[in-house]
Amino acid sequence: MTENEKPYPVSDTAALVMLWASRYYEPKPLTGPYLKKLDLSAGRQLLECYNNICPWYAEVIVNRKHFIKNTVEELVTADKKPTTIVNLGAGFSPLALELSPLLCDRVRFIEVDRNNMSHKHQRYAELVPDRSRFIYCIESDITDTTQLANAIRKAPGDPAGTRLIVVMEGLSYYIEKPAMERVFESLSGLFMDLSIVFEHLKPCRLVNEERRFIPYRIFSHVRDYTALDRMTTYSQDEIVAMLGSDFSCSYYDMDAMEKRRTGSCRYFLTPDAGWLSCAVAVRKAGME
Ligand SMILES: C[S@@+](CC[C@H](N)C(=O)[O-])C[C@H]1O[C@@H](n2cnc3c(N)ncnc32)[C@H](O)[C@@H]1O
Repeated sequence: MTENEKPYPVSDTAALVMLWASRYYEPKPLTGPYLKKLDLSAGRQLLECYNNICPWYAEVIVNRKHFIKNTVEELVTADKKPTTIVNLGAGFSPLALELSPLLCDRVRFIEVDRNNMSHKHQRYAELVPDRSRFIYCIESDITDTTQLANAIRKAPGDPAGTRLIVVMEGLSYYIEKPAMERVFESLSGLFMDLSIVFEHLKPCRLVNEERRFIPYRIFSHVRDYTALDRMTTYSQDEIVAMLGSDFSCSYYDMDAMEKRRTGSCRYFLTPDAGWLSCAVAVRKAGME
């Protein structure tokens, strides 16, 4: 087995997300082989620990992945304009691979993360050789807005005539609010036609009392494990206030994401039964 064929070792927290999502990715023709290229063993201990708190936690991650992929797909296909999709804090998420049938000279995909990006592009080149030239994997800190702007400019095209679709999945909890506000400000200044798919953690007070222990215990552990002072949370109102009145904002709690994936609400019967939600904000060029 050559060095390239050996599964790539993924760090514990990143491996955990991929383990939770594996039953979503495994049966699919592109993401199944992608998963086989990763060594996720470092995440098994965390998986066991968190599954002891909530044995069906994978439902949350699978609902979120399904929702985000379908939402971005709908946004892309709704308009024929030149489009750049940017996945911030992409980690090992193969969203670019899932959306690769849409990628072409007109629709480009940029992934930004602090690490593992060159490895990831190699795997894309192996799996979708004809589409990988439309995917850019860039190592950068997303809170450094100069670096972020340079990363986004890697895709050709004039920002004035290009639509930007920003995805933030599994990222916002780790970024302090002032830094996130600067990121939004910078993206808003660069692109007029801008859509943002913003997945986030809700404050515990917005989760019903029977369920609150799940996010509390899991995210307190993640916080200590990643040596952060706190996990950042958002309410719908805070997101609307942060984006400003130029954006039209739709909001989806986990019950809506579950319904979209499975057609019914089994684990999430009400909006306050879930702790991860998604805001989809759209600002069209020329909208006042
Ligand atoms: C929990 S993972 C989520 C990965 C992926 N988005 C998903 O949902 O499967 C969080 C990712 O955000 C990245 N990240 C956190 N802070 C970042 C920053 N300031 N700049 C770039 N990437 C960051 C981490 O490196 C990690 O890959």
